[in-house]
Amino acid sequence: MTEILEIWGGHPLCGTVEIPSAKNSVLPLLAASVLCREKVCLEKIPQLSDVQVSLALLRELGVSARQSGNRVLIDAERDISSSLSTEMMRKMRASVLFLAPVLSRTGAVDASLPGGCKLGARPIDIHLDGLEKMGATIHWHEERLYLRAPHGLKGTEYTLRCPSVGATETLLMAAVCAKGTTVLHGTAREPEIMDLADFLNTCGGHITGAGSDTIRIEGVPSLLGGTYTPVPDRIVAATVACACAAAGGCITMHGVQAELFEPVLEVLEKAGCTVQRENESVTVERRQLLHGVGLVETGVYPGFPTDAAPLLAAALLQAEGESCIRDTIFPKRFACAEGFSAMGAQVQLEGPALHIYQGKAMHGARVRAQDLRGGAALAIAALGTAGKTEISDVFYMKRGYEDMKSLFRQLGVKVRTKKK
Ligand code: EPU
Repeated sequence: MTEILEIWGGHPLCGTVEIPSAKNSVLPLLAASVLCREKVCLEKIPQLSDVQVSLALLRELGVSARQSGNRVLIDAERDISSSLSTEMMRKMRASVLFLAPVLSRTGAVDASLPGGCKLGARPIDIHLDGLEKMGATIHWHEERLYLRAPHGLKGTEYTLRCPSVGATETLLMAAVCAKGTTVLHGTAREPEIMDLADFLNTCGGHITGAGSDTIRIEGVPSLLGGTYTPVPDRIVAATVACACAAAGGCITMHGVQAELFEPVLEVLEKAGCTVQRENESVTVERRQLLHGVGLVETGVYPGFPTDAAPLLAAALLQAEGESCIRDTIFPKRFACAEGFSAMGAQVQLEGPALHIYQGKAMHGARVRAQDLRGGAALAIAALGTAGKTEISDVFYMKRGYEDMKSLFRQLGVKVRTKKK
């Protein structure tokens, strides 16, 4: 049985939306809670399937973890297990974030390779190399990974081969309770990294420099607990902004700062939208035809976010003139191109780049989500296209969007879900 999202598009969107905490901040924070010897409370947490998987992984370790409304409560005071099942590991990419905190806390971790959206090869060599430099031994047996550090991890100076978000998070979590000082060079600078460091510091960690390319961590014996509200979801905000660009209308987003997704807003302005930036809200409006923007290249923060590449592409399908979006992070970012074509769009994939040409009017179609952001991009394309579009495999979208149907309804869209 697959869930199908039916969208009747071609009408302007209008309304206000509250932006939830960022999935990509919540997931590392849930993993980091393993390090806390007192209770942790996380606020404004969306109900996402990836959050549910993280809570299940915590419970598998023997940690008490539950979501009640938009609050998550975790209690890792008792001794925990050091084994993560292959079945749970394969459910998402962010399961890899549990390796370091479990290893740090228990001196051992048994796991397997993580799953996640198929955006091309997604190795974990930097995570493992950094942990090895901090004293862990690594052993593979029948597709299971065994990490050991019976005498604890130790501080080191380490340069990441590339500024991987996940590897930076792994090494932050490994270093926070390691013996001595760790200095990480070439780290990712995404807001979610700063959020993780802020959370760890709230719980008693000593981390400075997060948000720059060098982070210094003075190891502490253990972490306490605390209450924390993660950073707003800049990709959900980008999704709403691109939906407005695709369909026209005016949407105000509350609880998000423009600087978190400024590169997306700037391209939308270039395409013909107007953007109003306030302290804690952003309004996007599109009253005229969009125009093509030429070449947009994604990059690490503060560059154009890779996760927003398919979302922007979906909006630009409505533009007069050409655009090309090239993703420099993942080789297979645009699986949604197949769905765009089925809807009559003139697009062409060339390696990691998607060319968008001006074509005939688009039409509703039956399409299939193939990954999280690609699925959201199909929904955006549907909002900008007259007629009914049916998107199957909605479970991909549930990894990162709490309730797309309600979100779009709130903005005046006729939308419904059905099971098939
Ligand atoms: N990489 C390696 N070796 C490693 C780690 C990464 O070669 O050990 C490569 C990857 O293959 C990729 C690049 O480095 O080409 C960047 O990967 P990164 O590690 O930065 O990404 P990630 O941590 O796996 C997070 C987000 C992604 C987001 C990327 C980039 C989470 C849970 N996921 O993934 O979010 O696209 O950073 O910003 O934080 C999404 O939300 O839809 C999503 C895919």
